[in-house]
Amino acid sequence: NDSGRRPRGALIAFEGGDRCGKTTQCSKIVEHLRSTGVDAVMWRFPDRSTSIGQSINAYLAEQSHMDDAVIHMLFVANRLEKRDEMLRLLAGGTTLVLDRYSYSGVAYTAAKGVPYLSMEYCKSLEVLLPAADLVVHMTMTPESMAARGGYGEERYEKVEFQSKVMAAFEALRDERWAVIDASGTIDDIHEQVTSIVEPVVRCAHNGCALGRLWD
Ligand code: TMP
Repeated sequence: NDSGRRPRGALIAFEGGDRCGKTTQCSKIVEHLRSTGVDAVMWRFPDRSTSIGQSINAYLAEQSHMDDAVIHMLFVANRLEKRDEMLRLLAGGTTLVLDRYSYSGVAYTAAKGVPYLSMEYCKSLEVLLPAADLVVHMTMTPESMAARGGYGEERYEKVEFQSKVMAAFEALRDERWAVIDASGTIDDIHEQVTSIVEPVVRCAHNGCALGRLWD
């Protein structure tokens, strides 16, 4: 990096169905990166702490009902309200590890099969946001996710719907995605995640450009 600017941080998104272990792996990789001197933080989407996030939370807990287009746009707005801070952190050299991002936004809504909420339309609403340098897609069968503790508490935690979400994620994959079998042990998965994430962080530090969704 000879420009005199601070090297940028990497944007890394973890995606997958509900209860597949994303949150655990996000925490572990952030802890690992920090232990090696990398400035890293973990964020979750939806961010339930904002007022938009609280409306989303009520919807997910089935305490409120909303039109599919409206809840979709709230999820988008919940990312957009964090956009400036996201770009500022990345430019300042902080690596951001996201527990869900735009890919969940597109996959979950497209999985509903509402004709006017096509995958292409959903993708178009995300274009103001940066693309992840790496998407870690954690996969397991919807049946094994359902066998995990707490499953079924939220709106989308139903086996049939999760199969459709899985298919939608598969349709979104490109060369920036790494697919990891989420049925292994926490430590085995963490080891795989580490070997995939570290080169991406180095690439960002070395100045490779941040992209835009879905260029
Ligand atoms: P969480 O359990 O990871 O907090 O995610 C909450 C639920 O919201 C999960 O079922 C996935 C869903 N979701 C969307 O439908 N659209 C989105 O944009 C995001 C980020 C999550």
